[in-house]
Amino acid sequence: MCGIVGYVGEKSALDVVIEGLRRLEYRGYDSAGVAVLTDGVLVSDKRAGKLQNLEKALQDTPLPVGKTGLGHTRWATHGAPTDANAHPHLDNAGKVAVVHNGIIENFAALRAELAERGHTLLSETDTEVVTHLLAEQFEPSGRDLAEAMRRVCRRLEGAFTLVAVHADAPDVVVGARRNSPLVVGRGEGENFLASDVAAFIAHTREAVELGQDQVVELRREGVTITDFAGGPGTFREYHVDWDASAAEKDGYDYFMLKEIAEQPKAVADTLLGRIGADGRLTLDEVRIPDQVLREVDKVVIIACGTSFHAAMIAKYAIEHWTRVPCEVELASEFRYRDPILDRQTLVITISQSGETMDTLMAQRHAREQGAKVLAICNTNGSTMPREADAVLYTHAGPEVAVASTKAFLTQLVACYLVALYLGQTRGTKWGDEITEVIEQLAAMPEQVDKVLDTMEPVRELARSLKDATSVLFLGRHVGFPVALEGALKLKELAYMHAEGFAAGELKHGPIALIEDGLPVVVVVPSPRGRSVLHDKIVSNIQEIRARGAKTIVIAEEGDEAVVPYADHLIRIPVTPVLLQPLVATVPLQVFACELATAKGHEVDQPRNLAKSVTVE
Ligand code: G6P
Repeated sequence: MCGIVGYVGEKSALDVVIEGLRRLEYRGYDSAGVAVLTDGVLVSDKRAGKLQNLEKALQDTPLPVGKTGLGHTRWATHGAPTDANAHPHLDNAGKVAVVHNGIIENFAALRAELAERGHTLLSETDTEVVTHLLAEQFEPSGRDLAEAMRRVCRRLEGAFTLVAVHADAPDVVVGARRNSPLVVGRGEGENFLASDVAAFIAHTREAVELGQDQVVELRREGVTITDFAGGPGTFREYHVDWDASAAEKDGYDYFMLKEIAEQPKAVADTLLGRIGADGRLTLDEVRIPDQVLREVDKVVIIACGTSFHAAMIAKYAIEHWTRVPCEVELASEFRYRDPILDRQTLVITISQSGETMDTLMAQRHAREQGAKVLAICNTNGSTMPREADAVLYTHAGPEVAVASTKAFLTQLVACYLVALYLGQTRGTKWGDEITEVIEQLAAMPEQVDKVLDTMEPVRELARSLKDATSVLFLGRHVGFPVALEGALKLKELAYMHAEGFAAGELKHGPIALIEDGLPVVVVVPSPRGRSVLHDKIVSNIQEIRARGAKTIVIAEEGDEAVVPYADHLIRIPVTPVLLQPLVATVPLQVFACELATAKGHEVDQPRNLAKSVTVE
């Protein structure tokens, strides 16, 4: 949420910053702005709307070239998405420029204080107070911008990533972080700051992850990191194991299409290297001792959005394979209801970004209560894995489209692996049972590929429903979270009323929504295994069809029982019951993506959304 870039080096800072912002636009696209230092003068431009508005303005009125600069792409919190509220914010003398991600909770008090001292604040944002405080602190700090930043940070409450430049501090960019993400990129004679490594990956793959409450000073020749008091910094250097091409569209019209197509590889990569020489499941990154895992008497999984749907599916696998009770909770609800946690609780947080504020705060609360936390995350260097007791990385590669696809499938794989690992450690699963599931998982990339190869009728169907006003999704067992995910995708991308229900709940209310021609997507469980569920859902399909619904049925190859009741039949490969979401979700992603495209929507950047939500 909000993307930030800072640069100092020999290149044109504007070019580097704009290129970085382009890669960070997934974080917000309400406005964009830049500031550059050029011969002791600060120049800046900012525009409401997408980055392209700013780029157009810069073409019409170019800024002078400078080698130090910063930029911002915004997801509005305080103040509407206008030019005035766009970042960077400059002080009254036009010497300091600041960009910010997060929320400064005590900004009202600081604003009043600044007004009393004669400052004129021009925007409605919380960020602008930082600009003025920095301007005030610069001289008393001996014209040391990093020191001024430390002093200012000590006065701020809330979550923030800040990056600043000062006209009288040439060749210096200063950053600070508390709770919101900020990564350093180390180059040769140049250094970078960004919310995400994607912003500078074309220039360097050497990154530095900053700890909590750190201030970083960037110069051409080096980087200095301290805490807010000026003491030694906490940080971790790492090498990014993907390159710029992974963050390109690669010939696809949208990142989302590319990311849907990458799912077989993402699933395969997440499974890679999980079986040790002794044939046992080994999750290298999991650092919670086996003895502690054996004593766990409850698992609680916390997440938001699509990751929450992965969590719901994980519950079925964990309870079935380990017999440990498992609760699943929305992160935003979790800590406010005084949850019961103790040392025997294993909390699993699931997050693609590792930065979602609701999930991060829930994770911290869980650790404070003594629970052990395992983070399932896709982003190396992000806050959640760094603060958790253990981490299991998904290897989806960078996911750029706001609506999550490949990250979801890899989260499912990670959840299955954790469930099996718990089963192995606690002795509730035999070795050969685990090997069997791992082999089934290993076959899934090919199955997902098969689904992708048969999507043309789904696209056609989506186009034909372009003018529908509402779509319902039904599922049972692990198909229920899949239905929720299908509905979420449609809301996010097509801005349509869409709802997912547990098919068994239909009769308790939602069936009243069924009317002539209403499209209803039904995710049908396998007729094998828990066939009772299959039979019940076939009855549900008949019930809604009798009331006029247009039934869109997703069912396994060979499931003939559904054929008479399906207005549209989408076939998926035969899979083990618990693994079905890995194939059943894919047509729903394609459906939503195509329907949104048919409506002329921007698939990668849906309105009002951001990929990484770093406010609560
Ligand atoms: C935002 C995104 C969703 C995502 C959710 C959780 O709302 O728009 O696509 O599922 O955040 O994100 P996380 O990074 O924690 O998985």
